[in-house]
Amino acid sequence: MKAVSTHDAPHATGPSSASTSAKVPLPIDAARLDAWSRELARFSDDPAPAVKRVLYTPTDLAGRAFVHELARAAGLSLRVDAIGNAFYRLEGRQALPAVATGSHLDAIPNAGRFDGTVGVLGGIAALESIARAGIVPRRPLEVIAFTSEEPTRFGIGCVGSRLLAGAISPDDVRALRDAEGRGFEDVRAEAGFSGALEEVPLAPGHFHAFVELHVEQGPVLEREGIAIGAVSAIAAPASYEVLVRGEGGHAGGALMPTRRDALCAAAELVLAVEDAAKRSSTGDTVGTVGICRVFPGAVNGIPNRVELTIDLRDTELSARDAAFARIEDAIARIQNERGVTIALRTLNADPPATSDPRIVDAVEASARALGLSSMRLPSRAYHDALFLARVAPMGMIFVPSAGGLSHRPDEHTSPEEIARGAEVLARTMLQLAEGTDA
Ligand code: GLV
Ligand code: MN
Ligand code: MN
Repeated sequence: MKAVSTHDAPHATGPSSASTSAKVPLPIDAARLDAWSRELARFSDDPAPAVKRVLYTPTDLAGRAFVHELARAAGLSLRVDAIGNAFYRLEGRQALPAVATGSHLDAIPNAGRFDGTVGVLGGIAALESIARAGIVPRRPLEVIAFTSEEPTRFGIGCVGSRLLAGAISPDDVRALRDAEGRGFEDVRAEAGFSGALEEVPLAPGHFHAFVELHVEQGPVLEREGIAIGAVSAIAAPASYEVLVRGEGGHAGGALMPTRRDALCAAAELVLAVEDAAKRSSTGDTVGTVGICRVFPGAVNGIPNRVELTIDLRDTELSARDAAFARIEDAIARIQNERGVTIALRTLNADPPATSDPRIVDAVEASARALGLSSMRLPSRAYHDALFLARVAPMGMIFVPSAGGLSHRPDEHTSPEEIARGAEVLARTMLQLAEGTDA
């Protein structure tokens, strides 16, 4: 496969300035980037083609080490903070705040190989192409591999970027427990990350701008036949942990009118979540129950306890709030009618983030310069960019997802589509690094 570039001008030979770098080609080798992705996918705790890399597991750590080597070979320096966020850096001509990109390397159970990794590997390829073109940008450039964007282990997503942006306190991180009851600090230390969590947060202004490359994880770009998405905003995600308590007993002996079956109550709640999202006025609200644990878990035992999670999102906060109010009404009704107790705990309820218009413009201009079609669209999934938006002007670049599929082994984006995204990322970062306008 050949390098994807719409430019055929010769490479620059010496350090390049703002005026010349706009014309220099920044080719991305699609096949090589795809080979990186395939190799990284081998670090998995699920059998191929599924990928699973959960925070601080040996597989997560081995995957990180593989990517550190790629970055080093690309000529980038490495800093790792106390929670494990990795910063790969290309120095600039001036000691100014860097333009940053990045995403995550962790993967939920039964995931594919593109979610998150495209943004880290594509970012490394983008910086490498800039360095290889002989360009020394005015501002430094950084790629960040964030720790644990996925909520798999500790129930809350974006722990690394959240802490980095000051959106969660070190004490709240220390209080996290995984499903086995293990504390965050224990597993962090076991994974070899030392240092105080207090050292992780970055001051606003630390980064000049942040722009994340990611697969769309939805159907819009493919359906519209568009190469590049310039993300306008990121939807507001919330998640909750619910404990339903009923009464256990003998599946043969206990008669139906006297039962307080926790799973039957939970089943009503699951449908209430679906209904609350479907009835939303925006048509954009989504509600999901992705975890449901039933106790005692015996064929012939009436469930006495159910633990479940609710994931609720909308690009409009008021619509998400309205859906949540309907779920709360349903909880009150189900408790009343079924004689169970339902306790709900908020894990996170984050506001949406709006992209910086200057970064959206830079993404669109970069796509145009490469002869690529682009459109603006919101992100319905959350990303580390949601939290970086709190400390830096933020933008995102989407590339198409085949069939709109993600969080499953058959998620797919072609090597050429990813290379185009990485080249748009390189141009966008360079534009932001050279200019004074973002
Ligand atoms: C991120 O993986 C999300 O769930 O949106
Ligand atoms: Mn994901
Ligand atoms: Mn992701």
